[in-house]
Amino acid sequence: MSERTIVNMKKNSINVSIYLVLTWAIGGFLPDARGHDGPNPVAHWVAGPQAIQEGRWKARLGPDAVIQGAPQLVSDPLGVSLKLDGRLDGLVVADSIDQAAQAGLLPTRSLTLAVWVAINTPLEDGGIISALQDNGGFEKGFVLGYDDKVFTFGLSTTGANRNDPDGDGVMTYLKGKTRYELGRLYHVVATFDGAEARLYVNGQLDAATTDQHGDILHIDHGWFVLGGYKDDNEDSRMHGRLREVALYDRCAPEQWVRRQFEHNADLAKLDAIDLVEEEAELRWVVAPYLQFVTPTGIVVMWETSRASSTLVRYGETANFDREAKLDGNRLLHEVKLEGLKPETGYFYQVVTTDAEGQTLKSEVLSFQTAVRETTAYAFAVISDTQANPEVVKTIAQAAWGQRPNFLLIPGDLVTTGTIKSHWTDHFFPNMRPLIERVAFFPVLGNHECDAKFYYDYMSLPKPEYYYEFTYGNSHFFVIDSNKNVLPGSEQYRWLESALADSKATWKFVAFHHPVYSSDEDDYGNMWKGKSLHGDLRVRALTSLFDKYGVDLVWNGHIHSYERTWPIFQGKTVERGGTTYMIVGGGGGNLENPGPIKTWFQNNVRRGHHYVMVAINGRSLELRAFDLENRLFDTFTLVKPDVPPTPGLADEAARDQNQGGR
Ligand SMILES: [Fe+2]
Ligand SMILES: [Fe+2]
Repeated sequence: MSERTIVNMKKNSINVSIYLVLTWAIGGFLPDARGHDGPNPVAHWVAGPQAIQEGRWKARLGPDAVIQGAPQLVSDPLGVSLKLDGRLDGLVVADSIDQAAQAGLLPTRSLTLAVWVAINTPLEDGGIISALQDNGGFEKGFVLGYDDKVFTFGLSTTGANRNDPDGDGVMTYLKGKTRYELGRLYHVVATFDGAEARLYVNGQLDAATTDQHGDILHIDHGWFVLGGYKDDNEDSRMHGRLREVALYDRCAPEQWVRRQFEHNADLAKLDAIDLVEEEAELRWVVAPYLQFVTPTGIVVMWETSRASSTLVRYGETANFDREAKLDGNRLLHEVKLEGLKPETGYFYQVVTTDAEGQTLKSEVLSFQTAVRETTAYAFAVISDTQANPEVVKTIAQAAWGQRPNFLLIPGDLVTTGTIKSHWTDHFFPNMRPLIERVAFFPVLGNHECDAKFYYDYMSLPKPEYYYEFTYGNSHFFVIDSNKNVLPGSEQYRWLESALADSKATWKFVAFHHPVYSSDEDDYGNMWKGKSLHGDLRVRALTSLFDKYGVDLVWNGHIHSYERTWPIFQGKTVERGGTTYMIVGGGGGNLENPGPIKTWFQNNVRRGHHYVMVAINGRSLELRAFDLENRLFDTFTLVKPDVPPTPGLADEAARDQNQGGR
C-alpha cells in the first residue's frame, strides 16, 4: 500500500479501521468480537476503584499486579489514575521469569507496550514497564521508561549489531525527543517488530532504531514490574501516575498508535497534577550546610521533610548568645547571619520544629568568618564530585582534615542536576562534614543541567550563574561555561569589567570546561590524530586573563588532574602568566591523558584527588593530594618585587601579642 493511499484513507476513519485490522491481521491476528481496530492485549490494566482491590491491581486481561506500599487513586476531570509515591509503592506482575513467560508477557519477536503515564520526579533510570537485567556485560530484556527529560525504550535482542557482535546481550536505549512536563499525562508506546524498535509519544513517532533485531533476548531471572525499574542491583520506583498499561505480542503500526492516542487525546490536555506531599516524620532532607561566607556574614541552609520553623542559635562559644530566625514554616531554609566579627570562629546549632511539635536539632557545628586582607588563609578545590559516593566521602573527609577556610567546586557537583536525589542522597550527605563547617562556592557544570535545584540550594549573588567574591587578599570570579562566554556575551563583558575593577593581590577564575587539556579523547582522539587540547569556547577568555593578570584558573569536566605551566599569550612563560588547572577528580569516573605530551602540560595525573591552596600575602602554595591523601603535586607562586606589606607586619605583631595562633 502506497503512502498516498494511506494518507487518503486517513480521511475516512472506517477505511482506516479496516486498514489497521488488516495490518494487525498479517501477523495471524483476527479482530476480536468488539470489532476494535487491533488485537487484544496479552495484559491490560486500567486504573479504577473496581480494579484496585485486595492488594492487587486487577487486570482486564492477563495477570493481576501485586501491590507493594499503598498507591492511591487520584482523580482528574476525566477519570482516575493510580498514584505511585516513588519510594514504597510498587506493582509486581511476575516475580519469576517462569511466571512471566507462562502469562505470555515475554513475546518472542514482536512487542507493543502502551501506557498513559505521568512522571512527577525525573530519574536517571526510570521504569514504567520493566522486565530486564542491565548489569554490565549482562543486558537482557526490555523496559519502557524515562530518564530525567524524555521517555525511553530499552531493548536487548539476539541479533548481532555493532555494539554487540555476538548478539549475546547489549541493550539499546532509545531516547525520545519530547521533553515531558512533570505531572502531566502522556500516551507512550514502544513497539518492536523484529527489525526496528520505535518509541511514540502522544501518537507521534519520537525515536526509532534498527540497532536491535531478531528475537527479543529475555531475562533468565528477575521480575516483570509496572511503575518501576527493577533488576538484580537496581530497584527504582516511579513517582507519578499510571492510568492504563497494556502489553501486546504484536508490533502495532504507526496509524494504530496515533488512533489510540486520538481516542483519548483530551487526557494529554489535562493540567499537570503535583503529587508533592508532606511526609509524616520530620527529618533532614539536607542537613545544615554553609554558603557565601564574608568577613561579617554567612548563610546557613538546610531542608526538612515537613514544613518547619527556621532558627539558628550561634555565638563565639557553644553557649549561643545570639539567634537568627525567620517567621513561618518552610521546607527549604536559608538564614543569613549578619553583623559578625571578621576572622572569628563561631559555633552554631540549627533548631527546626513543625506544626505538630516534632523538633530536629543539629549537633553543635562551627564556622569562621572570612579573614582580613592581611591574614594568611587556605582553601580546598574539589570538582566533579558527581558520582561514586565512597570517593566523594573520602575526599571531603581528607580536605576537611586540612581545615580549609572554604571550598571551591568547579562544577559537576552531581551527576544529574534535575534529579533531586542526586543532591539529597549523593552530594550533600557525602560532602559532610566539610560543608557544615566551611562554605562552598559552586560553579555550574554541564551535569547540573542548569536545574532549579542548583539555584534553590545555592545562596549566591544574582544572577547566580556568574558571581564574584573576595576572600582575604584574593578576588574570585565564577562564570558558567555552559552559557555563552564568547567576546560580546554578557558574561564576557561582566568578567572584563569585574577584572578591571579588581585591586586584589590574587585574581582567580573558576568555570567548568577546561581551557587546556591533555585528555585523550574529549577534544579529538589523541591516539589517532589531533586534539584541540581543550574547549575553544573558553579559550577566548585567555586574552582577558592575560590582560588583567589572572593568576590561576580552575576548571573541571575532565575527570583527571592537570596543571599547566604559566601561560601568557598562548605560550608558556617563566614568570607571570596564568596557570590553568583541571581538578576534576572529585568522584566522577576517571579519564586518561593522551599519548603525546602537550606543550602546556606541567603535571597530568589520572586519579581521584583534591587540591589545597594556601595564601600568605604575596606567596601562594598549592598542593594536590590523591585518594590516599598522599601529596602528588605542589608548586609555589610568589609575586615578586614588592616589599613586605605593613599590614602583614602589623598582623604578625598582633599575633605575637596574643601569643600566636
Ligand atoms: Fe564531570
Ligand atoms: Fe562536566
